[in-house]
Amino acid sequence: QEELNAKRRNPNIVSLNEGEESDTSTDEDEAAGEPPSAPAAVPSPTEAKPKPIPVPAAAPAPAPAPATPLCTHQTVYVPVNRLAKVQEARLRLPILAEEQQVMETINENPIVIVAGATGSGKTTQLPQFLYEAGYAQHKMIGVTEPRRVAAIAMSKRVAHEMNLSEREVSYLIRFEGNVSPATRIKFMTDGVLMKEIESDFLLNKYSVIILDEAHERSIYTDILVGLLSRIVPLRHKRGSPLKLIVMSATLRVSDFTENTRLFKQPPPLINVECRQYPVTIHFQKRTPEDYVAEAYRKALKIHNQLPEGGILIFVTGQQEVNLLVRKLRRCFPYRPQQEQQQNEQQEQLEDVAEENFDMKRVIRNIRKSKKKFLAQMELPKINLDDYKLPGDDTEADMHEQAEEDHSDDDALSAGEELEGVSELSSGPKQPLWVLPLYSLLSSEKQNRIFQPVPEDCRLCVVSTNVAETSLTIPHIKYVVDSGRQKTRLYDKLTGVSAFVVTYTSKASAEQRAGRAGRISAGHCYRLYSSAVYEHQFMEFGLPDIQQKPVDDLMLQMRSMGIDRVVHFPFPTPPDQLQLQAAEQRLTVLGALKATPGDAKDLPPAMTPLGRVISRFPVAPRFGKMLALSHQQGLLPYTVCLVAALSVQEVLQETGVQRTEDVAPKANKFHEKRQRWAASGNFQLLGDPMVLLRAVGAAEYAGSRGQLPEFCATNGLRHKAISEVRKLRVQLTNEINLNVSGAQLSVDPQLKPPSDAQARFLRQILLAGMGDRVARKVPLSEITDKEERRRLKYAYNTPDMVDPAFLHASSVLKQKTPEWIIYQEAYELRNGDSEKMFLRGITAIEPEWLLLYVPLLCNMREVRDDPPPRYEASSGKLFCFVEATFGKAGWPLPLSEME
Ligand code: CDP
Ligand code: MG
Repeated sequence: QEELNAKRRNPNIVSLNEGEESDTSTDEDEAAGEPPSAPAAVPSPTEAKPKPIPVPAAAPAPAPAPATPLCTHQTVYVPVNRLAKVQEARLRLPILAEEQQVMETINENPIVIVAGATGSGKTTQLPQFLYEAGYAQHKMIGVTEPRRVAAIAMSKRVAHEMNLSEREVSYLIRFEGNVSPATRIKFMTDGVLMKEIESDFLLNKYSVIILDEAHERSIYTDILVGLLSRIVPLRHKRGSPLKLIVMSATLRVSDFTENTRLFKQPPPLINVECRQYPVTIHFQKRTPEDYVAEAYRKALKIHNQLPEGGILIFVTGQQEVNLLVRKLRRCFPYRPQQEQQQNEQQEQLEDVAEENFDMKRVIRNIRKSKKKFLAQMELPKINLDDYKLPGDDTEADMHEQAEEDHSDDDALSAGEELEGVSELSSGPKQPLWVLPLYSLLSSEKQNRIFQPVPEDCRLCVVSTNVAETSLTIPHIKYVVDSGRQKTRLYDKLTGVSAFVVTYTSKASAEQRAGRAGRISAGHCYRLYSSAVYEHQFMEFGLPDIQQKPVDDLMLQMRSMGIDRVVHFPFPTPPDQLQLQAAEQRLTVLGALKATPGDAKDLPPAMTPLGRVISRFPVAPRFGKMLALSHQQGLLPYTVCLVAALSVQEVLQETGVQRTEDVAPKANKFHEKRQRWAASGNFQLLGDPMVLLRAVGAAEYAGSRGQLPEFCATNGLRHKAISEVRKLRVQLTNEINLNVSGAQLSVDPQLKPPSDAQARFLRQILLAGMGDRVARKVPLSEITDKEERRRLKYAYNTPDMVDPAFLHASSVLKQKTPEWIIYQEAYELRNGDSEKMFLRGITAIEPEWLLLYVPLLCNMREVRDDPPPRYEASSGKLFCFVEATFGKAGWPLPLSEME
């Protein structure tokens, strides 16, 4: 507590809470406006006319005027040996023409906003300008990206352009990185920098921070803008100035420039003009429900009829990307000829020829699917069966096809032109070089979009909105825009999430179209009508902070000493209700504790447990599980579980079933998983046990060099397994550093837990997931037979009105334990009906609730006779928990837990 108070008294930190600014900044601070000891250096020509500096903090009476403005950077030219080819390409980038203006503004101002069209060279060039101007000489240049993909790709690109090694231009994302002591330019995700601020509030390692892609409005970037708006003046006072550069596409920059909460004086804005070739927009007459099929059709048309130039297709998710990629590859296969044996080659060439020229078959297929599409007009329902490829046909389909053989009135008959385009290419059909792009794709595969396209091929990238602004793919001339994106919507209060496909915003549509005009005049085919665009597209997307739960963020901010999160200078403040809900969840978790008595208006204080939790680089609930596992040899298991649970989708199965199917079915790996979770107490551990086993088994397979096969046959995601391993190592190191006496090592192939350990693990899971408890709907009280059948797998939860159903993928589905906790509740919508599903199930004992989530239990005594019965309820649902204290074995005494 003392430490915390000390932190509160620290003026630097407390001044982040605007409301407290006046009573905490001391005279000493105010007086600190002396000139910093600037490194002696040759004044550069760019500093010829020093301007008065806008000092963000209220400036004291003018100190003796310094010779140069305080925040002026002394330019020292640091040479870079670029390859001639690279230099030539750079010179074509619009931002190069503005180098002098950009650098002058940065040198003379502490905070600068740089806006410019995507592809103008902001991300790749600005760090190089700064490097050449000496910013990396003593400290690092830090660049944050909201997307991991971008952090990796950009660091590699910049290293390449500068002819420096990846030890010098490096990246750091949550699970991996190549940062070294020699690193001068560091690309990282915004979450990584946020964590760094926790341990080094003033970011002393950096001379510049570039917040890239600020228009994406990711939660962490938003917070970082707020934090840095205060850190910059503090560093200034300390005499070692830090520059802040906020970079954004030309979207809604006013949220940053005209925000007086953030910057007392609006920082200078540099607009990078970008030469953009005209892009002709083609709206669809009608808006097809099945945009994936429509995208496929459009891509075929483009490839068949239009002159050369890459195609970029935007769809909403990984599933759709893979589907389209597979279809397009089958249609226009590419075979690397030299790698084949002579006769094999001949054979395959024939194959290619056959497949390529059998266009009738392809066309038939499209027509066939089109019929089916029209039959199902509900958005966004996608049925994989509708995407049968030539060769994939079942017998029934073949018949259908045979019937259609006679009809020639194909919608896509040879000469049909694409709207607005008259030039037609001729000659034999080229293969398509089809590449997928989405954020869960392995980085090697992601990198292929930047590599040269094989000769005689046309590039076709199928992407989620990753390619909208963060990555610029070379050679694109045609964009096919589905106009949709997949968003995870959260219920602000319950945290229940639902994936929904929605229209993107007008701003996104413009960005997507713009991708076509980079090399020459381009075309954008929008798979929706202009009426839909006008009336149903929002102007801009909402910032993430207004859409997602902010628990992590709240805890991290609190652990930095920002007590009044409400007063924090967010570019766009989050919803009050959401902040309250997060505070409440953290209180239930035991990370915050309401202040008793008269100090009611104080926000709940951070508990020691909360502080421990905030040190782990995982969500607060997982942090709590780790914090409680320091006994019984449980840590290695919890580490493994937490790692597996925080990595997205270790087990393949969820995508399609989450969004498109109202009654999810178990997939073909289900039985195997059932066996993994099968015996004794393990079974009650449920789905997390499957994860434990999966990770252990995959590691074992990996040690014998069989990981890819193992993953394929067991439905695991290869990349996820390596992420889990990295996170396990990272968490283990964290624990060894933070927990006294802990000397963990990672045993990748972790043996299954003992029965007793499995029981403890269930309790630990409960401790972290205390707000996700559910109880089976009491079937015995239901008389109607139909209703009983309907509710067979139904559970009541504390904050949802309607019961939720066990997901088919759960290994506990048949057992339907009375009390459970779930990892995730999500809603599936189909037209008007919605149904809630619970995933990641573990069975718990009700008496544990009293110990692990006492705040959710209402201890009203309802009966005097022994055994005593208590009503444990959170509002309405949890009734009559048998209070059997003392029976259960606890991993930790209650006192320690608090
Ligand atoms: O950040 P901004 O959108 O302004 O542009 P950028 O990402 O710096 O990209 C500048 C140029 O570099 C684009 O034309 C990209 O296609 C190109 N680039 C590339 O060729 N290879 C990479 N790995 C990354 C970028
Ligand atoms: Mg960029």
